[in-house]
Amino acid sequence: MALLDVNDLGVSFATADGTVNAVNGVSFALERGQTLGIVGESGSGKSQIAFAIMGLLAKNGRARGSVKFDGTQILGATKPALNALRANHIAMVFQDPMTALNPYMRVSDQMAEVLVHHKGMSKTDAIAASAQMLDAVKIPGARQRIRLYPHEFSGGMRQRIMIAMALLCKPDLLIADEPTTALDVTVQAQIMQLLAELQREFGMATMLITHDLGVIAGFCREVIVLYGGRVMEQAPVDDLFAAPSHPYTRGLLAAIPRLESTGGALRAIAGSPPNMTKAQVGCPFAPRCDMVLPACASTMPDLLPFAPARARACNRRLEDMA
Ligand SMILES: Nc1ncnc2c1ncn2[C@@H]1O[C@H](COP(=O)(O)OP(=O)(O)OP(=O)(O)O)[C@@H](O)[C@H]1O
Ligand SMILES: [Mg+2]
Repeated sequence: MALLDVNDLGVSFATADGTVNAVNGVSFALERGQTLGIVGESGSGKSQIAFAIMGLLAKNGRARGSVKFDGTQILGATKPALNALRANHIAMVFQDPMTALNPYMRVSDQMAEVLVHHKGMSKTDAIAASAQMLDAVKIPGARQRIRLYPHEFSGGMRQRIMIAMALLCKPDLLIADEPTTALDVTVQAQIMQLLAELQREFGMATMLITHDLGVIAGFCREVIVLYGGRVMEQAPVDDLFAAPSHPYTRGLLAAIPRLESTGGALRAIAGSPPNMTKAQVGCPFAPRCDMVLPACASTMPDLLPFAPARARACNRRLEDMA
């Protein structure tokens, strides 16, 4: 049984301008200890998938479909059930650590609180365990610096603190939503390397959300490519890089900077993301697709398997992709 089994997940928001269909019929499974990347442009629905799983959708949001964690349905679970799940099994690292850290509390107090509250530890033990976790995320002088306030740390160090907090309860599943976008490139690389090490060491299944396929390459085994709230392509990462099967994935790959490239311009995908309040007819990527067919304006292709662990949603025949 998969640790996380997401089936036909949909997320919509009621707004003054109508219903925003942010996520449409997304399905995937994540095995224990495995790594899955979710990649897509801004607004493609990545975060809402994570929030739906965690039970953290905004008030005007509604989720439908099914999310099973370890065989139990958690979509629409009660608040206490979700709290217990978040305390013991699923943890999340957010893009901006300052929104998740309390600026007025010492790091020691906020970290210890988690363990005192959820694990019933004494404060002294909780602080010792927290300092140990700060050690694990390689914060120098953790034992002393744990007494500091969040603003006394650099952005990269704050993100390390967030990761340490997420790992305190030894989650089975870690969801990292753009964990490095707010950081500069060198620090980004360090944090991703750290995450990869911790993932191996602690063995937690990890869902990594990013707009950057390059980040996924170094971290995930499987990847889902999202566009307009739909899965366009699903593949083992190596296969996706070797032979992308969807025009959108190709566009994403062409937009990754490569060390070996000799100054050739990066190709951005022309056009802008779809308006999510409009009822979707056809493939959402059609207006920007350089391989568009007449059928794409009216027919959204199903996500169909075509090779082991691979699926694509495209009206183009695979043979025509070469
Ligand atoms: N509370 C809300 N009310 C209405 N629309 C919302 C709400 N929250 C999110 N949306 C819309 O849902 C869509 C998907 O948003 P989501 O946050 O999942 O994007 P994302 O892929 O995470 O983008 P980014 O890379 O910018 O974080 C967007 O069109 C967004 O505007
Ligand atoms: Mg997001």
